Amino acid sequence: MSKTHTEKNPSKRADGEYVTLIDHSSDKQYNLSVLHGTEGPKVIDIQSLYKDTGFFTYDPGYTSTGSCDSTITFIDGEKGILRHRGYSIENLAEHSDYMEVCYLLLYGELPNAEQKSDFVHEITYHTMVHEQLLGFYRGFRRDAHPMAIMAGVVGALSAFYHENTDINDPEQRRMATHQLIAKMPTIAAMAYKYSLGQPFVYPRNDLDYAENFLHMAFSVPCEDYQVNPVLGRAMDRIFILHADHEQNASTSTVRIAGSSGANPFACIAAGIASLWGPAHGGANEAVLNMLGEIGSKDRIPEFINRAKDKNDPFRLMGFGHRVYKNYDPRAAVLRESSHQVLSELGIKDEPLLDIAIELEKIALEDDYFVERKLFPNVDFYSGITLRAMGFPTSMYTALFALARTAGWIAQWKEMIKEPHQKIGRPRQLYLGSQERPYVLLNKRG
Ligand code: ACO
Repeated sequence: MSKTHTEKNPSKRADGEYVTLIDHSSDKQYNLSVLHGTEGPKVIDIQSLYKDTGFFTYDPGYTSTGSCDSTITFIDGEKGILRHRGYSIENLAEHSDYMEVCYLLLYGELPNAEQKSDFVHEITYHTMVHEQLLGFYRGFRRDAHPMAIMAGVVGALSAFYHENTDINDPEQRRMATHQLIAKMPTIAAMAYKYSLGQPFVYPRNDLDYAENFLHMAFSVPCEDYQVNPVLGRAMDRIFILHADHEQNASTSTVRIAGSSGANPFACIAAGIASLWGPAHGGANEAVLNMLGEIGSKDRIPEFINRAKDKNDPFRLMGFGHRVYKNYDPRAAVLRESSHQVLSELGIKDEPLLDIAIELEKIALEDDYFVERKLFPNVDFYSGITLRAMGFPTSMYTALFALARTAGWIAQWKEMIKEPHQKIGRPRQLYLGSQERPYVLLNKRG
């Protein structure tokens, strides 16, 4: 195998700049260093705050907290910018493919021709799963959610490939990393096949990553299946657009799980669990459910009003983002891609797409959404595209997990290599009872 790139980690710059924290109750002052990344807001270094001052910081939801250094992904939510290792997502979606993006995320540079061919070869030749894993699927109910199966099966990989679970061995780390990326499409496609009661389809080494996934999801042994290249390309784009997204909930979950020294298979299973929720990866499924519930364009105002009503828990799924306060750049690429897929498949009157476009138009003009900077996010269009390709809504989040595995594993790898890496352990603002005497059972009211 050709030599893969080795990543360089630029040191953070303190430049002598600091901010002063004044504790008026004791008249004490503390200087806190200001760190500069290569891009993005300045960061106040509070690592020794508790030791120096006796204070914790309070930031539920981590809206103002940087949890790590990273060289992988840069997001400017105000400007709608997403870059991996410096390359814009628009550029990657147009010129690259998912295998290249995986390599870029893992090794820091785009591969040269030899590196790419070696990487693709290694991934291709690890797409099969241990035959005994098939029995594991049969333990699930047929109507199990694919994410439940994915979390279980990916967690079980550490039992099947335990020879690659020593995180201190670079070769085992490399192997586990490649195994996860290689096997994820097989695992996701098998979850789908199992739900249909159809036989599992083995991977084919003559197909590329995205085409092979479509083959495993949609072919049956009794007839020939040709992958439509337009759909193959659209699938690959969906994988690229979901490959990494900085320190979101599931990635932070993977890092926290990994910070205890847990093996990568277990960490990715934790990431899958975190991704499942409707406020994160589950949103693409929720978008389609919501569009179905709206049902027709004339009911859109009713749902817009519900989204604005503070007494109604309803939210417009696929709108808003913790970081993007501008158009999600991934949504712009996927909007175009969804139209290509619909036109290739000859789908002219897709009522849900019509509702989606109308909803987007109204929400983009409505003061409530404009003031709060609630733009459509990537989930808004991925659901429409995947539906046209023939996937049931329950598979959408599983596809997100498949694609995000590259980002999770790159972030995990980066964390493991951090020389001063510590177990992730936030503190709290305790609001419970102070010490009180134990009351015997017969004395309690
Ligand atoms: N519909 C209606 N109102 C919304 C929505 C929405 N989708 N999203 C946010 N708001 C409102 C909130 O009610 C709040 O209003 P207020 O200031 O009057 O109280 C304001 O906008 C800010 O909302 P927060 O919840 O504070 O924003 P936060 O950054 O915590 O939430 C989130 C981001 C979870 C994505 C949210 O926008 C949401 O629930 N969206 C719908 C689910 C979704 O699409 N998730 C996918 C995220 S992207 C991804 O994981 C790939």
